[in-house]
Amino acid sequence: MSDIESIKHKYLDQIAAVTDGDALEAIRVAALGKKGEISLLLKTLGKMSPEERQSEGPKINGARQAVADAIAARKEAMESEVLNARLATEKLDMTLPPPSAPKGSIHPVSQVMDELAEIFADLGFSVATGPEIEDDWHNFTALNIPETHPARAMHDTFYFPVPEGSEELPKLLRTHTSPVQIRTMVDVAKQTGGEGEPIYIIVPGRTYRSDSDATHTPMFHQVEGLVIDKGIHMGHLKWTLETFVRAFFERDDIELRLRPSYFPFTEPSAEVDVGFSVENGRRIIGGDARSNEGGWMEILGSGMVHPNVIRNCGLDPDVWQGFAFGCGIDRLAMLKYGMDDLRAFFDGDLRWAEHYGFGALDVPTLSGGVGA
Ligand code: PHE
Repeated sequence: MSDIESIKHKYLDQIAAVTDGDALEAIRVAALGKKGEISLLLKTLGKMSPEERQSEGPKINGARQAVADAIAARKEAMESEVLNARLATEKLDMTLPPPSAPKGSIHPVSQVMDELAEIFADLGFSVATGPEIEDDWHNFTALNIPETHPARAMHDTFYFPVPEGSEELPKLLRTHTSPVQIRTMVDVAKQTGGEGEPIYIIVPGRTYRSDSDATHTPMFHQVEGLVIDKGIHMGHLKWTLETFVRAFFERDDIELRLRPSYFPFTEPSAEVDVGFSVENGRRIIGGDARSNEGGWMEILGSGMVHPNVIRNCGLDPDVWQGFAFGCGIDRLAMLKYGMDDLRAFFDGDLRWAEHYGFGALDVPTLSGGVGA
């Protein structure tokens, strides 16, 4: 047997006898590594005469290939031995339930927004949205709040810096959802060439004021309502709000109280209270507000859209009238689902979210719907 043949067989025997991966790797290095025995033999080819190379080359390359193949085969065999050993000893119980995957939950604010959209859809309203970064005109001026009007101080507004030398009024984070009234009416005026057409929208969304305590957060949520049509009056406003509140709190015995108020964009304006009573030591919306422990709590601002606002949007207030209201969504959620700290809504504590959140596939809480 030639030298090469005996070297090849030496390694093939070692490979066959090996039982663990480290030993196999050591053999590979000894034979085929940079300074391995077979690698060094390959290097000698360069110094051989052409005739010698022709006879030796295939032998050495053949040995290298044979050893490399044997290592690969042995490696595969050892791996399947390990697997077979596991298969022989371990058991998989296919009847066990799988570990449950973590599930997210729907934030109460999102849940309430869905409920609002559902209730108002039954009344023929669609959902409109607008930007959270607003300009002065949409947030204030078009809503009949001129630049010097003291009502601007009612809103602690977050303003953006104005580029130096710019004459423009600063952009701001909208302080209410009312600018979407303006955007909607302007769109309708444009699309109808100033003619106008009925508008029935709600606008749920984020709003911002520089304010922070247990009942105020700098970001909060409102839902705006806007109706523009012919011959709309306060009675429509009251019926709509009553229908909404009763559907939302799922009780028919809820009373509303409208108190005269002031908003620059509505005339007349009314603040709206809901009646509450006490049942089993707990305050609940509905029942006899005039009973001993009963009373009223404010839930929203509203009124008949001011003619100036309708005119500012390019519509004729002698043809079109309407009402509007604005209501805090977070507060609605707190009242309906019994949460007491507004700040917890936005802390991002998963335990809170799990406790108060809603399952995506849960049956909707609104059992009746409007008019059921
Ligand atoms: N925009 C008012 C607020 O944020 C609420 C409101 C809306 C009042 C529409 C009347 C009509 O306080």
